[in-house]
Amino acid sequence: MAACRLALYLCFVSCSLSYVCSARYEPTWQSLDSRPLPSWYDEAKIGIFVYWGVFSVPSFHGEFLWWDWKGDKPVQEVVDYMQKNYPPDFTYADFASMFSAEFYNPDLWADLFNASGARYVVFNSKHPDGFTNWPSKYSFNWNSVDVGPSKDLVGMLADSIRRRTNLHFGLIYSLFEWFNPLFMQDEANGFQTDNYVNSKSLPELYDIVNRYKPELVWSDCDWLANDTYWKSKDFLAWLYNDSPVKDTVVTNDRWGIGCMCQHGGYLTCADRYNPGTLQKRKWENALTIDKKAWGYRREAKLEDYLTMEDLTQLIAETVSCGGNILMDVGPSKDGLIKPIYEERLRQMGQWLGVNGEAIYGTKPWSYQNDTYTPNIWYTSKKVGTETRVYAIVLDWPTSDNLYLASPSPTNATIVTLLGYPSLISWRKPASHSEGIELEIPAISSSMMPCQWAWVFAMDSLQN
Ligand SMILES: *[C@@H]1O[C@H](CO)[C@@H](O)[C@H](O)[C@H]1NC(C)=O
Ligand SMILES: *[C@@H]1O[C@H](CO)[C@@H](O)[C@H](O)[C@H]1NC(C)=O
Ligand SMILES: *[C@@H]1O[C@H](CO)[C@@H](O)[C@H](O)[C@H]1NC(C)=O
Ligand SMILES: *[C@@H]1O[C@H](CO)[C@@H](O)[C@H](O)[C@H]1NC(C)=O
Repeated sequence: MAACRLALYLCFVSCSLSYVCSARYEPTWQSLDSRPLPSWYDEAKIGIFVYWGVFSVPSFHGEFLWWDWKGDKPVQEVVDYMQKNYPPDFTYADFASMFSAEFYNPDLWADLFNASGARYVVFNSKHPDGFTNWPSKYSFNWNSVDVGPSKDLVGMLADSIRRRTNLHFGLIYSLFEWFNPLFMQDEANGFQTDNYVNSKSLPELYDIVNRYKPELVWSDCDWLANDTYWKSKDFLAWLYNDSPVKDTVVTNDRWGIGCMCQHGGYLTCADRYNPGTLQKRKWENALTIDKKAWGYRREAKLEDYLTMEDLTQLIAETVSCGGNILMDVGPSKDGLIKPIYEERLRQMGQWLGVNGEAIYGTKPWSYQNDTYTPNIWYTSKKVGTETRVYAIVLDWPTSDNLYLASPSPTNATIVTLLGYPSLISWRKPASHSEGIELEIPAISSSMMPCQWAWVFAMDSLQN
């Protein structure tokens, strides 16, 4: 009792002395959800998701191939493909020794991700096939050191990213495993037993955090059981109170049935979530550059990949509405990021090199998109005491005027086009009572600041 009071007293003193009281979080959603999101995450805006594993060996149909072949509802296309191309006794586990990774050079990946302008990278540590991309001692002979690559894929990428870039490094971890006998037994018991969680998923979550110190824990494949079964709240309380990344770590919302879009560090809500309106809480649009899959698909057609027009539109819509964008890349089994992905990433880096000031560290403005002219999305940033407003214009105007209804100019308003040296003239619109009309200069193609989505910056608008 006395010790207790002393501890309270010391806490009180140290709080008042150090001003910032480091709160302890309780394993309840009320407490966990009250934790402020570390600021790096909202400022970063753009991340890369890297989905690589044993499914990258068949690299057909997508990363759910095993489930779509042997699960509850087999997909005919997958069943046929496996029957036609592999011997009758072939198992999914046989793919693991073909996960060669012979060209895996994480320094090259780190440099490419850095060149893309992304500010964080989230790498797959385990898929629901259970194969771990690090030497998990809870995954005997089913991990990237014991079979296949013979490498600690996670550790090598974490090291390259930290040595060569300032990007934040995070990990994806799938809670359930389709065919893990312990999980299947817990499921058959209506999740009244928790042998799988105690001997597999929970020890592995602690292991990846202690080993690799991820600044983002991107939990996935949680939806078969609730957070009580997964012991998610206990894990998160430890992560926020006592883990080696307690001050900087960010988490998503996939922690058990009913959590998604409700609880956790920020909200993902659904894959490719893009609400188009301002959201109350921080959220993330996790999408795939190959529109149909997270893992590499050899059969993908050119039209399956997002174009830069698609990507810049998604970035503009997402960031304007307060979201971050997380773009998935699927490397091939040999450790390559194929040229189509590389091109998108480098183009995104070019675009952000010119227009990044309208993205990184911005806040949503009073309007998300223009109230009159379509395909114009706004972000804003404090510059001194003033607010600079950015209009991201997805289509280059076809006439020499561009009417924006949402910004109200003052006599002091100054407009620039990012990446273009001269000021942009503007006037009060003749045909509308509010808004601003920009005079679009005739710019020769060699002077065009970029090829997709142009950004007009406006200073000294009316508040
Ligand atoms: C990372 O990107 C920044 C900004 O584009 C650049 O200045 C730096 O040289 C890059 N670093 C590497 C290792 O490529
Ligand atoms: C969560 O699942 C457990 C079984 O693992 C069950 O006992 C409990 O009632 C469930 N809780 C809720 C709120 O559904
Ligand atoms: C602004 O965006 C919303 C949500 O996407 C859309 O419904 C609306 O039509 C857009 N406004 C204009 C003028 O395009
Ligand atoms: C803007 O300039 C006009 C003409 O010089 C002047 O009449 C008006 O008062 C000014 N308005 C403001 C808000 O300063």
